[in-house]
Amino acid sequence: MKVVVVGKGGREHALAQKLKESSSVTDLWVCPGNPGMSLTGLQCADVETTEEIERFCLQNAVNLVVVGPEASILSDLKQRLQSQGISCFAPSAKVAALESSKLFCKGILKDAGVPTAACLVGYSEKEALQFIQQHDFTQPLVVKADGLAQGKGVWVCESLAKAREAVQVLGSQYGFPLLLEECLVGKELSAFALCDGKDFVLLGTACDYKRITPDPFSANTGGMGAYSPCDFITPEDEKTLREFFAKTLACLHSKNLSYQGFLFAGLMKTSEGLFVLEYNVRLGDPETQALLPRLKTDLAQLIVAAVTHNLQNQVCELKPEVSVHVVAVSEGYPQGPLNTGHPVAIQSRVLQQLYYAGVCEKQNALVNSGGRVLGVTALGSSKEQARVLAYQDIHKVSFKGMYVREDIGL
Ligand SMILES: Nc1ncnc2c1ncn2[C@@H]1O[C@H](COP(=O)(O)OP(=O)(O)O)[C@@H](O)[C@H]1O
Ligand SMILES: [Mg+2]
Repeated sequence: MKVVVVGKGGREHALAQKLKESSSVTDLWVCPGNPGMSLTGLQCADVETTEEIERFCLQNAVNLVVVGPEASILSDLKQRLQSQGISCFAPSAKVAALESSKLFCKGILKDAGVPTAACLVGYSEKEALQFIQQHDFTQPLVVKADGLAQGKGVWVCESLAKAREAVQVLGSQYGFPLLLEECLVGKELSAFALCDGKDFVLLGTACDYKRITPDPFSANTGGMGAYSPCDFITPEDEKTLREFFAKTLACLHSKNLSYQGFLFAGLMKTSEGLFVLEYNVRLGDPETQALLPRLKTDLAQLIVAAVTHNLQNQVCELKPEVSVHVVAVSEGYPQGPLNTGHPVAIQSRVLQQLYYAGVCEKQNALVNSGGRVLGVTALGSSKEQARVLAYQDIHKVSFKGMYVREDIGL
């Protein structure tokens, strides 16, 4: 089977690496990938637009396309490929509203009977301001933009003044409606399912680190590291997670919206149990780099089962080891300007799995070109052991201005 992975980040590197392990995969390309992936033995093809990817797949008789980033999921790529008879593992752009509209997502969660924060919807500034006026602020209020906002559309507001500001800023930047949500208190985790339209397998759980430093009020990033599995859920919680996914898929199915693709639940474990904060219609970055190396089951076979609606009797087995993934970022990340263009030096004997993201080639050398540059995943018999191994290796990497958080997996 000939496979294409669409994307160019660390998540796609981990996906491609895992798919390459499958005996059923004869050829594999990452489109467009990055030159760091090529160094680790993956083939990259310099095609990026939907037209280019379609043409590449036809020219190379590609059988299966696995899509990483949400932008490609929301594009017409799947439709194009399907009309050419090429399987594309990704949700349809329509059902991807689960991520691109928080209001749509809330509606599905409510209809499915999946616990989620109580929420009011302000369709205009006036209405939103009226609602926040009624909140007593003994608990914070969460103000959320409806659409995609690249991690900048959610404000947790401790005071009426802050909530007013949130309504004004988010309203003018992203428009209305805004969601005004009850603030949940607890620990966050991510759970990942692989879905065939009706059935699913639970891939596993992970926890990521969103802030640039250990200070919980420091800047929000795409993710500075992760570990897998989540270490504070019980077997009972895992059963609940499966029920959440099952109910959500059944609800979508009943609305003629069958969901095929990876499904990522952002959850909060509170004193009252698990709540879904949001769904994303793709795998997480960097959670994928922590999760996939733990997969024992052949990922390509699971995806083939999914695109042929045959997941019903499949299971996903994970290695007993725990993983820790640590990301190295460029100076200036996340606010910018980024200090880029510096050679990425790697001492020999990096023993763990290295995943490349924001790198490019300059005068035959690999240089940093983005915010998140690369990451290392280590497996260990405990989180502590995995952590030691991951940090040993990330410190063999250096480029001018390189920064890593030192507390991943603590
Ligand atoms: N109802 C809530 N209660 C408490 N914290 C929340 C709530 N909703 C969101 N958050 C916090 O805001 C973050 C971002 O919210 P999320 O819904 O995941 O939006 P996005 O990922 O699109 O920015 C969450 O990871 C969580 O830390
Ligand atoms: Mg989120």
